[in-house]
Amino acid sequence: MSSKPLVIAIDGPAGSGKSTTSKEVARRLGIGYLDTGAMYRAVTVAFLDSGVSRDDADAVARATREAAIDISLDPDDYWVKVNGRDVTHEIRSGRVTENASAVSTNPDCRADLVRRQRALIDSDARGCVAEGRDITTVVYPDAAVRILLTASEDARLARRRGDVGASVSAEKLRDQVLNRDKADSKLVEFTRPADGVHLLDTTNLTFDEAVSTIVAMAEEARS
Ligand code: DC
Repeated sequence: MSSKPLVIAIDGPAGSGKSTTSKEVARRLGIGYLDTGAMYRAVTVAFLDSGVSRDDADAVARATREAAIDISLDPDDYWVKVNGRDVTHEIRSGRVTENASAVSTNPDCRADLVRRQRALIDSDARGCVAEGRDITTVVYPDAAVRILLTASEDARLARRRGDVGASVSAEKLRDQVLNRDKADSKLVEFTRPADGVHLLDTTNLTFDEAVSTIVAMAEEARS
């Protein structure tokens, strides 16, 4: 058995199901769970609250550097704080979703968050499932298991519809899911798997099938 804590890196576009899947994989394996998207979102709250314009890249980078982010690694007790304030629910608002690309397309912000994400993953002695857009390629390319989770556009839109309910228009939903991926993929490639990254298309898989596939890969890597 390997003595190094097990790290599982999972990337994927919006609506691919990576958050719920990653959380359940972490639960079943008894290891930590890191939602790196929540860190981009928490920094978005911080810069918006401080009155910084999303077009001022230097100020957004400064707000990122100065943001104190506390994030739970417990898949059963999920919370996020920024500058001492609990933003667990606020980070899911439309305002934050629509402005997060000001952080995710800013290379200085990415460098700062990547450094913090590595430290968080390494801080959990049980091991960690980390999910995002660049975990398999930039944050933790040495992870024992590396997966790119995908699903068809229709499946992703339907899943996101299930998350947000009927209050969001079809046009806005497309914008939040598909156009956001286009903006995000300017700096990181998460539409095709990098070398050694396993592509898992969940369009025709049940949630349980997706989770069990990843757990089996993790158990093999652990043995
Ligand atoms: O996965 P999410 O929707 O919570 O991500 C929020 C934003 O952060 C979104 O614009 C994508 C971006 N992101 C990123 O660029 N890199 C990551 N590792 C995680 C998220």
